[in-house]
Order: sequence, then C-alpha cells, then structure tokens
Amino acid sequence: MALAQIGVTGLAVMGRNLARNFARNGFTVAVHNRSPQKMQSLIEEHGDEGDFIGSESLEDFVASLERPRKVVIMVQAGAATDAVIDSLVPLLETGDIVIDAGNAHYPDTRRREAALKELGLHFVGAGVSGGEEGALLGPSIMPGGPAESYETLGPILEKIAAQVDGVPCCTHVGPDGAGHFVKMVHNGIEYADMQLIGEAYQLLRDGLSLSPAEIGEIFAQWNEGDLESFLIEITAEVLGQVDARTGKPLVDVIVDQAGQKGTGRWTVQNALDLGVPVTGIAEATFARAISSQVAQREAARDVLSASTSDWHINNREGFIEDVRLALYASKVVAYAQGFDQIQAASEQYGWDIDRGAMARIWRGGCIIRARFLNRITEAYERDGELASLLVDPYFADAVSEGVGAWRRIVSMAALTGVPTPAFSSSLAYYDALRSERLPAALIQGQRDFFGAHTYKRVDAEGTFHTLWSGDRSEVEA
Ligand SMILES: NC(=O)c1ccc[n+]([C@@H]2O[C@H](COP(=O)([O-])OP(=O)(O)OC[C@H]3O[C@@H](n4cnc5c(N)ncnc54)[C@H](OP(=O)(O)O)[C@@H]3O)[C@@H](O)[C@H]2O)c1
Repeated sequence: MALAQIGVTGLAVMGRNLARNFARNGFTVAVHNRSPQKMQSLIEEHGDEGDFIGSESLEDFVASLERPRKVVIMVQAGAATDAVIDSLVPLLETGDIVIDAGNAHYPDTRRREAALKELGLHFVGAGVSGGEEGALLGPSIMPGGPAESYETLGPILEKIAAQVDGVPCCTHVGPDGAGHFVKMVHNGIEYADMQLIGEAYQLLRDGLSLSPAEIGEIFAQWNEGDLESFLIEITAEVLGQVDARTGKPLVDVIVDQAGQKGTGRWTVQNALDLGVPVTGIAEATFARAISSQVAQREAARDVLSASTSDWHINNREGFIEDVRLALYASKVVAYAQGFDQIQAASEQYGWDIDRGAMARIWRGGCIIRARFLNRITEAYERDGELASLLVDPYFADAVSEGVGAWRRIVSMAALTGVPTPAFSSSLAYYDALRSERLPAALIQGQRDFFGAHTYKRVDAEGTFHTLWSGDRSEVEA
C-alpha cells in the first residue's frame, strides 16, 4: 500500500482545508478525525482533488504514514491539543515530526517541544494565518521547532503556502515556540491595524459627514497606494455593503462591540513581561474591551460632558489626505513595535529570528498581507540590527512627511471628541522616541524620594540617593 507523505488529524474547517491543500499540491495525505464522520465527508466530497488515505483509528492513521512521519494536528488549542498529542505519541517512533498548526500559546509550544524532545520526537509549533480560505488556497505558515525537522517538512509546507513573486510565505522561524510566538505578534499587529483603520473611518465619517459607501470609495482609492493591503481592501467592501433587511449600510446595523479570541491579549501580556511598549496593539485590544463595556458606556453617555469644538474643515481633499498620512504613520509605529517585540523575545529565548524574513512570509496568505511589508523586508535587509523600523531611512522619511498631518488629525480628534486611542498613542510613542529629555528623570526623583530607589546622574558615573528626610545632601548608593 502507498504511504502518505503527511497526515492531518483534526478535520474541522481548518484541518479539512489544509488536508485538501496538501492533496491538491500532489501530496498523498493521511486524514483522521476523532469523530470519523468528518473524515468520511472530506473523502466523499473532495476525494477527487488528490490522494487521501482515510483512517478511523489513530493507529491506522499513523500506520498509513511514511517515515519519518509528519503529523499535523489541527484541533482546538489548549487541552484538546494535549489530548491528541498524548494519544499520538505512544504510536510514534524516534525522528517522527508532530506539527501543531493550531493557535497555541507559545509557552505551551515550548513545554510540548521539550517533552517530545525527551522522547526523541520533533515537535513543530506552526503558526498558520489566513483563516479557512488561506488554509485551502495558501496560508502564511510560521513553523518553529528544530531546524532539522524543517529539512524534510519545509519543502512540503512551502509548497502549500501562499506564494508572492514566486517566494513561499513560509520559512523556519526559529527553535521551539518561535513560530507560535511570531503568529501571536502577527495577530496583535492585526488588532492594531484594524483599530487604526476604524479610527480613520470614524474621522472621515464625523469630519466630512460622508456615508459609509463614500468612505468605502476612499479606502478603495487608498488601496491603490502605499496602504494597499487585504485589510484596507475588505474595509472598502464592508463599508459598501447594504443591509438587505433595512436598506441601510450594513456597518450601521452591526452592534458596535468588538469581539476577540485572545491573541491580542496574549501579545500585550507578553509585551509587558518583556518590557516592550506595544502601544498600538495595547490600545487596539483595550478599544475592543471598551466597546464591549456596555454598562459603563450606557452610564457615561449622558453624564460625561463633551465640551467639544465644531469641525472646521475648509479643504475636504486636504483632510482626507491628512487622515491617510496619519493612518500610514500610525501603522508604521504599530509594526515597528511588533517587530521590537519579536526581537526582544528572540534575544530572551535565543531564537535568532530574522525579522526581514517574517515580513516576507506575511506578504501573502495572511490577514495583514500588504504591499508595505516589502518595505519592511528591505529595511531589515539594509540593516539586520536596525534599532527600530522607524529609524530606517525609508520609514523615517515616510513618517516625517506625514508628521504634520498626524498632529493635525490627533489634535482635531481631541477637540471634536472622536476617540482615536491608536492614532494618539502612536504619535505619543513617536514623540517619546525622538525626545531629547523625558520626564522619566522626574519619575526617578520621585522614586528615590519615597522608596530610596536611587538614580543615575547625567554628569557622573555611579548610582546616587538624596537624603530626602535628612539634610537633602546626595550620597553615593
Ligand atoms: N478558524 C480559523 O479561521 C483559524 C485560523 C487560524 C488558526 N486556527 C486554529 O486552527 C485550529 C483548528 O481550528 P478549527 O476552527 O478548524 O477547529 P476547532 O473548532 O478549533 O476544533 C475542532 C476540531 O478539534 C477536534 N477536537 C476537539 N477536542 C478534541 C479532543 N479532545 N481530541 C481529539 N480531537 C478533538 C474536533 O474533533 P471532533 O470533530 O471529533 O469534535 C474537531 O476536529 C484551532 O487551534 C484554531 O485556533 C483557526
């Protein structure tokens, strides 16, 4: 009997499409699901797309794979993934490769990788982005785990990944949890990007009293330039959609409470641990939380005074261009912060992640795919040690060009009372980075006052403390 080159267990929407993608690309694929109906229906409905070997038992599934076996697990993250690993492991042999392609939290991936290594097995935590359509037609794939396993697994994954300019959107990210970590930050950046787009929409709507469809047309135009991306493209589509029931713009009948599955929260929690400011991602995550705080919003609506100014827009086209420039600049900040987080984790865990390669594999297949990512890859190719994306000459110029517009938009939003947390915090971050002196000096003074936390001086080596409750002389600490 012919053996399968790769297997997929967990055939809900993602696993099913990933298995079809393998088969359509010429791989013989073994398929298995806890409840066999999903396996049977896959073969009944799509068996003609390629070579599938279906198994009802995990034992038969494992036996249908060529060695080293490559088993993709595509089930719910967390306990379900552990349960599948636990049943799979006793059936595997040294050198086999287990790939978790679900949305695992990277510390879980690190734990699983270490445990399977003890047993002589390779564990690859692979971030997969692009939703169900990406899984079928070509996702962006971010595999971590041992470099050795990528030698056999990589060519298979690269074949089913999205391709941009003939380059696959898949590369070995780094050891153990690196792949799932990068996927997590990808999702965090996705949160920031969506929030920024939302703020731009609200400004255009309130400032120019435009209809959603008219704003959709502006986004469609923006999609022809530097902002070209999947998220801008779908924004134009969503804003142009008319609700069949009411004839109103669909966006006006959707409840304004944004959901989240938790990857934004994970990104922010980790950024706090690493001490990396990801203000764009954090504000985006909190903005979703505020939107869902129904009780607080209702209580505040009629109580909190506005004291807002009226809009004064003399130049309609100029305002639209200002919003576009502010959006682009804020977006550069959000991405710069995300890449800083990847770099910090890479250093902390010894992952040696190539940031330019991450931007390259996000160019296709995934939700944040964008023209702009080419520029990020180029920036890291120019300087692999770049301190911040913002100081790369291309991005420094691009943001400097828009900084006046950015300030006008953020101040106008504050005066008119439009909440723009991501635009505003990105500008504040930009200004903090470029400031000669920050009030952190005062904070150090305060800390020394109440907690003898000491401070350093600008004009002398060493650590100092002022005797605040004594004669206020300074001593070396
Ligand atoms: N949906 C997306 O757009 C998307 C995008 C990227 C990544 N992901 C990730 O991809 C993974 C799969 O997502 P999904 O939406 O296709 O499926 P899902 O709804 O997350 O999971 C359902 C699958 O998990 C299996 N399962 C659950 N508990 C199990 C257990 N204890 N033992 C064995 N199998 C178990 C189910 O088997 P039964 O059929 O027997 O119940 C079913 O095949 C998730 O980690 C998800 O976060 C999803």
